Amino acid sequence: MKTKEIIAVYPGSFDPPTKGHLDIISRAAKIFPKVVVAITHNYNKKHMFTLEERLSMMEESVSEIKNVEVSSFSGLLVDYLDKIDSFCIVRGLRALSDFEYEFQMALMNRKLKKDVETIFLMPEQEYTFLSSSMVREIASLGGNFKNFVPNNVYKKIKDKRKLNV
Ligand code: PNS
Repeated sequence: MKTKEIIAVYPGSFDPPTKGHLDIISRAAKIFPKVVVAITHNYNKKHMFTLEERLSMMEESVSEIKNVEVSSFSGLLVDYLDKIDSFCIVRGLRALSDFEYEFQMALMNRKLKKDVETIFLMPEQEYTFLSSSMVREIASLGGNFKNFVPNNVYKKIKDKRKLNV
């Protein structure tokens, strides 16, 4: 039986962090004594922001939530869990379309490390359609994405787009 305080790890590429991610982080922070937002490279995605940029955007976005830390890792998530003495992964589940990918990842992580548990949290309904890739696409095509991301992230994306013009 686990007696130590549980460290929950919320892993992702967060490229960029959205209000949906923040919704999940706030919910996790109410449940767990400590939440580590762990940012990494997703080998299946082409990133818009560097790891350092994503870290700083996330740090600013969660600065008000006391029991949340932001960190980064490379390599396997299960190895990172070992490193920080955690066995608990938190992921957001928005819609049925997320389920297959999340189910596969959760079971693969359990295969790689026997006692790992993945906890799924559902965001507020208004964020169920929201994803970082949609924000990236809308921003690249000049659409209005202000309501989908925290203010600091909005400014950062606008700055980035100016540099690319
Ligand atoms: O936000 P994302 O891009 O959907 O997050 C996916 C992420 C980063 C959580 C996943 O790709 C991951 O855990 N990468 C680390 C490498 C790893 O452990 N791969 C095996 C996972 S089954």
